[in-house]
Amino acid sequence: MGGRPSSSAPAPRSPGDTPPPLVIVTGASGGIGQALAERLARPGLTLALIGRNPEGLQRALEGVERRGGRAITSRIDITTSAFQHWADDIAERYVLKGLYANAGLSAGPPHSRALESAEDTERLVRTNLLGNIACVRVVVERMRRQAITARMNRHIALVASVAGLMPTPDLAVYSATKAGLIAYGHALRPRLKADGISLTVVCPGFVTSPMSERHKGSKPFEITAEKAARKIVAATEAGRRTTVFPLPFRLLSISESLAPGGLIDRIVPAFRAEIVPDPRVEPAFKSRRLDRSLADGAPEDA
Ligand SMILES: NC(=O)c1ccc[n+]([C@@H]2O[C@H](COP(=O)([O-])OP(=O)(O)OC[C@H]3O[C@@H](n4cnc5c(N)ncnc54)[C@H](OP(=O)(O)O)[C@@H]3O)[C@@H](O)[C@H]2O)c1
Repeated sequence: MGGRPSSSAPAPRSPGDTPPPLVIVTGASGGIGQALAERLARPGLTLALIGRNPEGLQRALEGVERRGGRAITSRIDITTSAFQHWADDIAERYVLKGLYANAGLSAGPPHSRALESAEDTERLVRTNLLGNIACVRVVVERMRRQAITARMNRHIALVASVAGLMPTPDLAVYSATKAGLIAYGHALRPRLKADGISLTVVCPGFVTSPMSERHKGSKPFEITAEKAARKIVAATEAGRRTTVFPLPFRLLSISESLAPGGLIDRIVPAFRAEIVPDPRVEPAFKSRRLDRSLADGAPEDA
């Protein structure tokens, strides 16, 4: 899957011009990502919309343009090196002003007594954790190189989940990937401060989107993707450390951190759900690498 920009690239610059600012949104073809793109759309800012599904990216692009913004779309799988190659190219033409690392997958066990399959486990870890960490690393490295020529407030948002703070049984692996992302974000933040880069860890509760449509169970305090995007952009642009929303989940997560375990054990039965398999999962996904390397100690192939 190539990473070449496919739409509405801005006009070429003359030598010596300051490159225009760019904010990257991964998972822009999905519910929250599309709403984030629309929320960020503004004159003078180019958005880079990343995802794999071309129709979803096209919808996001149209949403940005309807609001008077400008965007480029690139079909990239964030679990591959394509993102890095794309970023090398884009950093030559733009100042990287922000990253919303929002791409993610959900999956649950096939039935109530099962555990998540090996395939789903690997996909979730590779996408939610390794893919997002790789995106952050790639963007931070390029932001640091650009700091010499351009000084501005730069932001990174890591879209985790309330499930990373209060793990739920039907989303055990998903919860683990989000907890890992939360830990990574909090650990990294101080190291970015000297570069003038803020990092916001985002923990939404239930948000209406194609992902949450597959969550068959109660979804207390569910909010729209537009409302979530408003909160995410506001917290990120203000350089906040973290944002947990909506309010009832913020309060629950505070109580949970004061008395770990007790609260979760009492309330999780209310969150029981069946997670319908994701129809967008490509059947060709290769899961054998992790299993094989675990089974016989063989090194991973490329
Ligand atoms: N909805 C909720 O209730 C909720 C709650 C808490 C946190 N979140 C988090 O919010 C984020 C957005 O979720 P959503 O609700 O908007 O779900 P969604 O509609 O399913 O969107 C997920 C997005 O991630 C992209 N994506 C997945 N794997 C990718 C890959 N390998 N490379 C590039 N893009 C990839 C998808 O793009 P393609 O399919 O085009 O590749 C899609 O744009 C996720 O990280 C999710 O975990 C959601």
